[in-house]
Amino acid sequence: MANTRTSRKVAVVGVGGVGMGCAYSILNQGLVDEMVLIDVAGDKADGEARDLMDGVTYAPENCKVYHGDYSDCKDAQMVIITAGINQKPGQSRLELVGTNAKIMRSIVKEVMGSGFDGNLVIVSNPVDVLTYVAWDESGLPQNRVIGTGTSLDSTRLRMQLSNKTGVDAHDISAYIVGEHGDSEQPLWSQATIGGKPLMDWIEDGDEGVIKKDELEDIRKTVRDAAYYIIDRKKITNWGIGLSTARLVRAILENEHAILTTSAYFNGEYGLKDIYTGIPAIVGENGVERIVEMHITDEEMAGLHKSASELKEVLDSVRE
Ligand code: NAI
Ligand code: LAC
Repeated sequence: MANTRTSRKVAVVGVGGVGMGCAYSILNQGLVDEMVLIDVAGDKADGEARDLMDGVTYAPENCKVYHGDYSDCKDAQMVIITAGINQKPGQSRLELVGTNAKIMRSIVKEVMGSGFDGNLVIVSNPVDVLTYVAWDESGLPQNRVIGTGTSLDSTRLRMQLSNKTGVDAHDISAYIVGEHGDSEQPLWSQATIGGKPLMDWIEDGDEGVIKKDELEDIRKTVRDAAYYIIDRKKITNWGIGLSTARLVRAILENEHAILTTSAYFNGEYGLKDIYTGIPAIVGENGVERIVEMHITDEEMAGLHKSASELKEVLDSVRE
């Protein structure tokens, strides 16, 4: 059957470790037909494009990767923004906001100046605040400006639960919500292993399962994962590259998949006018809706505390 796939084009802004982690994952999964790399470091973008092109014949689909400029965003379905400074060892994500909010506004201005009218995917940190800044600058509808949110944190949690239980992480559903950062909140009450609630596994004392008093250590391990990795390799890029490719696929394939993106709250969970991590249904027009779960009072308080910390930082960069 003739390939009915319409030509898929994305732009990646920022070709550092994260941008190239995203670009490589997207190429290696055959998600797009065209990928343009944009960066102030033009030579690096050109070199990265040429390097990726050397491997295209071994990728599952053909793809044209090239160094371009913002005018190339016009007909892209999606622009993925990873540009900005990253954390130095021990530095929090929120500390990056002053520099990265300015960079984000300048990039979004250029992208929108091309006539772009697709989905904006924000990765740069602090991702929740910068997703709001990108939306504010873009004039796009809230649902079509999406942050990677706590998608990376949620897979980190699933891996921890998999390591503890021996169950394949693909059969574990577990969500971190709120800030992609130090104030993030696990939703233990919603976690399931193969459809059985985690709390029932613990209560039943199923063989090899977690003890309730281990949950706090797991929470801290997930929360501090970036610090651990950055201490050892200066950046994190592969986990976020794969997480971003998952989000890209859900949008391009119109999957209606549930992913913990940084989505815009309009009253859900009692929160308004904030972007932060929450399970949301994602398809070709970005976030279709936030999933409202029956979380515990403690989890709700954690989500609200995280949101208020983000609001404080957001207020410091509002224009
Ligand atoms: P990097 O320093 O390796 O790359 C950043 C790139 O942005 C550089 O190539 C630089 O030339 C480019 N750039 C800077 N200003 C620009 C501008 N005005 N226009 C176009 N390009 C510009 O940094 P890395 O490690 O790739 O991290 C990028 C961002 O991603 C950081 O903010 C980091 O904290 C964030 N990040 C987010 C994660 C998440 O889960 N949301 C996970 C990992 C990193
Ligand atoms: C992470 C940081 C860098 O890897 O955002 O979670």
